[in-house]
Amino acid sequence: MKDTPRFLLLCLAIVVQAQTAMADPPPAFQGRRLFVSYCQLCHGPDGKGDGPLAAQMKIKPADLTTTVRSRSDTILRKIITGEGKQTITGRDRHNLISDAMPEWKSVFSDQQIDALIAWLRFLSTSKHPLLGDPSVGYKTYEQYCTACHGEQGEGDGILTRLLKIEPADHSNPNAMNPLSNDELVDSILEGAGEYMPAWEGILSRAEVEGLVSYIRLLSQ
Ligand code: HEC
Ligand code: HEC
Repeated sequence: MKDTPRFLLLCLAIVVQAQTAMADPPPAFQGRRLFVSYCQLCHGPDGKGDGPLAAQMKIKPADLTTTVRSRSDTILRKIITGEGKQTITGRDRHNLISDAMPEWKSVFSDQQIDALIAWLRFLSTSKHPLLGDPSVGYKTYEQYCTACHGEQGEGDGILTRLLKIEPADHSNPNAMNPLSNDELVDSILEGAGEYMPAWEGILSRAEVEGLVSYIRLLSQ
């Protein structure tokens, strides 16, 4: 390892990080977890309506990657809780949600429903598939990245107050969407500018791919 300023910063970042508490992950991250536990059995892992239960069902689970685009958050909330479902307005049959979709009533808190909706928005709008496991990415980001990039990825970590560094805002879709998964992998492995450390040889492939997914969910 070369004795560069970038390397020294890397050490500093890890020390600073060890002393701060875990931040809440972004809503889409939490929503994905709920989706895996409660929804993918019918809707499938990618929301396409092809979960293991789908084959046996008479009314097929919706392909959420297309249907939710035209739905407002309010309507999605009604569909998920089942409360006020009958008041969904629209001319075609598509707007009648049958009992084949469970009514979750108060199973989820308001915050959890917001999280589910954030994940549905990701499924239906993201141009970039999740590359690795976001849970691995969450832990790794907390450990190695938030000191500079900030707890919510906004580019306002503790070290940015001590040094004149300005990482991009990972929570800003306009900044992140133009970058491909491969470009993010390269930035992470190779480092960038004066201050972004190169993580090649420090992080495993799975950790780097997890980080890319986590950054995607931060910018949802
Ligand atoms: C037991 C299977 C099942 C489970 C579990 C399930 N769904 Fe559904 N869901 C369906 C079916 C079937 C439909 C289509 C209903 C229809 O077309 O009448 C549907 C429709 C929907 C729709 C409406 C799609 C649209 O815009 O027309 C949304 C949104 C939705 N589900 C979200 C969820 C979420 C979020 C969860 C997890 C909390 C979930 N579903 C769990 C079976 C399921
Ligand atoms: C010592 C501070 C520091 C640490 C620690 C750090 N970064 Fe960065 N990072 C930066 C800076 C500064 C930039 C902007 C570099 C430039 O000038 O283009 C950057 C850039 C990036 C970029 C390119 C897009 C962008 O945001 O500008 C990605 C992706 C990135 N970092 C991810 C990570 C990940 C993932 C980690 C943790 C494994 C991490 N960074 C750790 C400071 C840091």
